[in-house]
Amino acid sequence: MAKLNPIALILTIFCLLVSTLNVYAAREGPAAAVEDSFHRDICGGKEKVVKLHFYVQDLRIGHVNATVFEVAKASITPNNPFAFGSVHVLDDLVTEGPEFTSRALGRTQGLTTNADLSTFGIAMNLNFYFYAGRFSGSQLSILGRNQVTDAARELPVVGGTGAFRYARGYAIQTTYSMDPVSNYAVLEYTIYTTYNSKFNNEIEIAEM
Ligand SMILES: *[C@@H]1O[C@H](CO)[C@@H](O)[C@H](O)[C@H]1NC(C)=O
Repeated sequence: MAKLNPIALILTIFCLLVSTLNVYAAREGPAAAVEDSFHRDICGGKEKVVKLHFYVQDLRIGHVNATVFEVAKASITPNNPFAFGSVHVLDDLVTEGPEFTSRALGRTQGLTTNADLSTFGIAMNLNFYFYAGRFSGSQLSILGRNQVTDAARELPVVGGTGAFRYARGYAIQTTYSMDPVSNYAVLEYTIYTTYNSKFNNEIEIAEM
């Protein structure tokens, strides 16, 4: 008897579920027809992997134009060497190159939480919102643990919208530069993620 490949089985069940949904979607007019072909493309192998590379302008508390702010802390935070319980909200500029004036591609928005009592381990909850470039209009979400003392930090890509619907992959974050006087850091991101190659293919394909 042939061995059942569990991944193939899960994919088959997923595609069956999606095609069942499409039966309902197909009854709802032209917009539904677009959804229909989108799901067919995912299951039919139109999903591809792309390498994204960009920089994040991290203007921290104390910077004259700060885009990162602490919004909450715990009773333990001031006495814990790793600021356990400190929560920051950020709205950082995403740029093509490392300079602040480099071409703007979007924003990184979300929360970071110091969530490790005994080292700098940050729980990341980030949405990358692209408003320029190849993936303009699409969002990519990252959720994971950031061991900030490592030279290169790996974070999971857990989903997205637009071209990044059903996205999965991983991001490598490194610190490109850090000026502790002005509280200005530049973070470099390299992300490998799946995307739908047929989404918005009328949009001009530009390098990130
Ligand atoms: C802060 O923002 C203002 C207005 O955009 C800008 O002119 C200035 O150069 C910025 N300052 C720094 C240190 O980036």
